[in-house]
Amino acid sequence: MMSQEELQATMAETAAAEETVRPRRLEDFIGQNELRENLRVFIDAAKERGKALDHTLFYGNPGLGKTTLAQIMAQELGVHLVVTSGPVLERSGDLAAILTKLEARDLLFVDEIHRMPIAVEEILYPAMEDFHLDIICGQGPAARTVTIDLAPFTLVGATTRMGLISSPLRDRFGIVHRLDFYSPEDLARVVQRTAHILGVQISEDGALEIGRRSRGTPRIANRLLRRVRDFALVHGSSGITREQASEALARMDVDASGLDVMDRKILSVMVENYSGGPVGLKTLAAACSEDVRTIEDIYEPYLIQCGFLKRTPRGRVITEKAWQHLQREAAQKIQPTM
Ligand SMILES: Nc1ncnc2c1ncn2[C@@H]1O[C@H](COP(=O)(O)OP(=O)(O)OP(=O)(O)O)[C@@H](O)[C@H]1O
Ligand SMILES: [Mg+2]
Repeated sequence: MMSQEELQATMAETAAAEETVRPRRLEDFIGQNELRENLRVFIDAAKERGKALDHTLFYGNPGLGKTTLAQIMAQELGVHLVVTSGPVLERSGDLAAILTKLEARDLLFVDEIHRMPIAVEEILYPAMEDFHLDIICGQGPAARTVTIDLAPFTLVGATTRMGLISSPLRDRFGIVHRLDFYSPEDLARVVQRTAHILGVQISEDGALEIGRRSRGTPRIANRLLRRVRDFALVHGSSGITREQASEALARMDVDASGLDVMDRKILSVMVENYSGGPVGLKTLAAACSEDVRTIEDIYEPYLIQCGFLKRTPRGRVITEKAWQHLQREAAQKIQPTM
C-alpha cells in the first residue's frame, strides 16, 4: 500500500509527465478522425466569422483526451482558456465570478460538468443561450433580478457520465461528441510520439505491444511506456523491443489482453461467486471491494468493449470469450513460459 504522500507524489509526477507529452495542435491529436475533422471545420469557421465557437460537450472514459481537446481548441482559436470543474463550483456566485471576467470568444472549460450543483447549472442556461446572467438580489418581497450582460464565450464541458447530464443542459450544447476507445494501432502512434518526446527508442512492434495492452486509452499507453522505459533502463538496453515491452507489462500485471488486476478480479469474482452471472452492479462492487461508480465508469466500459462482459436486464454476465481468457491466463500462471 502506498502512503498518502507517496500517492500524492505519484499523482503529481503523472500530471507533470502528462503535460510534457500533451498534444498542443489538432494535427498532433492522434485518432478520433471524425471528431478531429469536424473540430477543424468548426474552429476554422468560427475564426473566419470572428464569432465564438459553439458550446461543445465531450464525453467519454477518463484519459481519452477531453482536457487535451479543450486546450487544443483554445490554442487553435487563439483565445484564453479558463479552467474549472463541476465540483469546484459550489455556489452560483462562483460561476458568475468566472463568467463576468471572460473576454469575447474566450473558452471556459468545465471538467466533470455533471457534478455541478443544480443552482449553478440554472444560471448557466441564460449565460449559454443569450450571454447574460440573471442574478437575484435580496430576499422575500424585496428581491429583484439584476441582469448582467456577458461577452460571447464558448463553454466546453467534459463528462465521463453522459447519463447524468440533464437534458436542458445537454440541449444547450451546439456540438456534442463522444470519444471512443482507441485502436491498438492509434495507441502505438501515441506511444511512438511520446517516446520521441522523451528521447526513448522503441521498435514498431514494441509500440504496438504497448498499444494493444493499454485498455484503449492514451493516458494508460503513456503511463505504460514510462514504466517499460524504466524497466529497459535498469536492464541497460538502449531501445525497447517487443519482448522487453511484453515482459515488463507482465511484471506490471497487465495481461495479454491489457486487463489489469482489477479487471481480472471482476471477472474471476463473477465466475467464482456467481457462476458467470447475471449479477447486479452493486453486489458485484461489494464483492470486489470497489466503488460502484469506479466499476461502472472505468472498468465495465472496457470489459464490454473487449467483449468480456455483457449488460442484461437481469445484471452483468461474462461471455464465453472471458471464460477462455481467464483459463488461458490461469494456465500461464501455472506454467510460466517467459
Ligand atoms: N488523441 C491523442 N493523441 C495523443 N495523446 C493523447 C490523445 N488523447 C489523450 N492523449 C494523452 O493522454 C493524456 C490524457 O488525456 P486527457 O487528460 O485529455 O484525458 P481526459 O479525457 O481529460 O481524462 P479525464 O476524464 O480523466 O479528465 C494526455 O496527457 C495526452 O498526452
Ligand atoms: Mg480531463
